[in-house]
Amino acid sequence: MTIPMVNLRPLLEATEPAWRANLARLFERMHFILGEQVQAFEAELAAAFGARFAVGVGTGTAAIELALRAAGLPAAAEVLLPALTSPFTAQAVLAAGCRVCFADVDPEFLLLDPEPHIRKTTRALVPVHLYGQPCDVGAAARRHKLVVVQDACQAHGAPVALFSRAVAYSFYPTKNLPCLGDGGAVLTDSRTVAEKVRLLRDGGRRNDQVSRIRAINSRLDEMQACYLRAFLPKLPEWNADRVRLAALYDDALAGCPGVRPIGRRPGSVCHLYVVRAARRERLRQFLAERGISTGVHYPVPLHLQPAFRNCGGRRASRRGDFPVAERACREILSLPLWPSMPTGFVDEVAGRVREFYSGS
Ligand SMILES: Cc1ncc(COP(=O)(O)O)c(C=O)c1O
Repeated sequence: MTIPMVNLRPLLEATEPAWRANLARLFERMHFILGEQVQAFEAELAAAFGARFAVGVGTGTAAIELALRAAGLPAAAEVLLPALTSPFTAQAVLAAGCRVCFADVDPEFLLLDPEPHIRKTTRALVPVHLYGQPCDVGAAARRHKLVVVQDACQAHGAPVALFSRAVAYSFYPTKNLPCLGDGGAVLTDSRTVAEKVRLLRDGGRRNDQVSRIRAINSRLDEMQACYLRAFLPKLPEWNADRVRLAALYDDALAGCPGVRPIGRRPGSVCHLYVVRAARRERLRQFLAERGISTGVHYPVPLHLQPAFRNCGGRRASRRGDFPVAERACREILSLPLWPSMPTGFVDEVAGRVREFYSGS
């Protein structure tokens, strides 16, 4: 049996009439950049996620960068983000002209734990809703008067809309709300932030050939909007299925020596099913030999990655600076999970995990 990490085929099959109709309309209109599909998707996404505005951009990375640039931070502002996240979170902060500072995560949920790391010079927080788990930094942000830009690239549909003025999403093909290439969006209740992101994503232009500010070119593609509009109505059902499958994994792995699932927060949309695993690399190989794909999100904490080693201040980061994130990177393993994954796959994966530990 071969079990991939993710399978988009059932999602495409379940929505085929809708995306085909959108594509047909696009080819009829032949307006391929910032046309009616993107405009309609932005309105539908804002309504579905309970925000006043949604602005489609080229990637989740650009969504974080542009949300930070629209926040009106001073030049080289210090931004605190977790040491355990996708490297793109930190790349986006650097691209926005800010300084990256890392914080450790909490050991149960692996989410940003900002308070011990906030300094007088900290200006903003970028909480990451890792694995689909809501990370509320509202209390710390209010206490220290910090701007918050949320990285919700793994948390479509999680209840995070009201945590701050700007929320960034990615539509990378493995996400809860995917497209078939790159895509992203900024959601906000602020008209000013939305207008600034619209300007920033399109060369500083306003439907003309005049650049008003220094900007980038990062627009959501019309073709991707055709798929996103077809997928969006299915998101609640797909998220519920992820939650159901995660609960099945919990049961199937209960009491298994060597593995412990990461804690689950209320409102989690279970983007990934992640366990801490003893002898992780040996387990991965054992599963791969039996046709089961797994992932590691992420193998190297950001403060130890070459691009970010000298970020944030007085000295280069060292091993031991963020021990919870470092330990997690050695132990975490993401098991196969996608909406409508056959229940039998959960049993097969859990059975193989049990077999690995019982044989050792
Ligand atoms: C937590 C997180 N932040 C940022 C990104 C970057 O998104 P994108 O690949 O769309 O640029 C991703 C996705 O890969 C992510 O998972």
